[in-house]
Amino acid sequence: MTTSSPFSVGTTDPVLHGRRGVVTGGGSGIGRASALRFSGAGATLVLWDRNLEAVEAVAKEVEAEGGTAYAVEVDVADPASVAAAATRSVELLGGIDLLMNNAGILDDYAPILETDEALWTKIIGVNLTGPYLVTRSLMPALLEDGGGAIVNTASIAGIVAGGGGTAYTASKHGVIGLTRQLAFDYGQLGVRVNAICPGAVETGMTRALFDEGDAAVMESVRSVPAGRHAQPEELAELALFLASDAASFCHGACFVADGGWTIR
Ligand SMILES: NC(=O)c1ccc[n+]([C@@H]2O[C@H](COP(=O)([O-])OP(=O)(O)OC[C@H]3O[C@@H](n4cnc5c(N)ncnc54)[C@H](O)[C@@H]3O)[C@@H](O)[C@H]2O)c1
Repeated sequence: MTTSSPFSVGTTDPVLHGRRGVVTGGGSGIGRASALRFSGAGATLVLWDRNLEAVEAVAKEVEAEGGTAYAVEVDVADPASVAAAATRSVELLGGIDLLMNNAGILDDYAPILETDEALWTKIIGVNLTGPYLVTRSLMPALLEDGGGAIVNTASIAGIVAGGGGTAYTASKHGVIGLTRQLAFDYGQLGVRVNAICPGAVETGMTRALFDEGDAAVMESVRSVPAGRHAQPEELAELALFLASDAASFCHGACFVADGGWTIR
């Protein structure tokens, strides 16, 4: 069984040449990998994260590879913070053609009896209210320039149970609903909206779980047809496809990259 990632750096075609994008949660994991991939494909970016140091480091990585990225500190669950970041981003970029709603947090697989209101509110706030607030703040800029692409990072937890706890699973099902409704409402105005649904990916979110070798989680991860978890770059490839014109007929769809988790 192959347990290592066959991933190698993909094409460097400038399929996002001239595009101006925002990536939330750009300081780590899937957001970082997507930022590097979008930039490599020609996009100019503003990277949002609550961890300013992390997102500044990613912006420097982008610049070291010849791209342009700005770092902005934001809490996507906070309306005032999102509004300020949106205004700043439009100022920096002169417009928006691309948005990746990716910032998210895990609930450590808490079932409902271990999900108090504080945990529920926190997870829903970042994972679902976050994309709502961010999209509402940036949609006028997207529409003003004739549309663009939105890529939401959902999860297999948006499709099946067992990929998170109560709040996380509910939040990701919500992200898929948000994706479909946005696509329904804005497709004919030029905005394509789609979601990626990753399975287990080695990132800041999951590293502790993988490192500690939580038996149930590790069993789920290893029993997928791929026999392994993913690297964030493998999700960035999918995000790039959806962000680019190659996905021109994709509207409101959820693209699973889970090593086969959901076919078991
Ligand atoms: N890692 C996985 O196995 C996996 C699987 C499915 C879906 N996802 C989803 O992928 C997305 C990215 O997660 P990741 O795995 O790369 O994790 P990560 O922890 O490596 O990255 C998430 C980033 O989001 C930022 N963030 C968290 N809360 C924020 C807030 N309130 N405001 C702004 N930024 C905030 C963090 O600082 C971090 O930089 C999340 O939406 C997550 O739910 C991850």
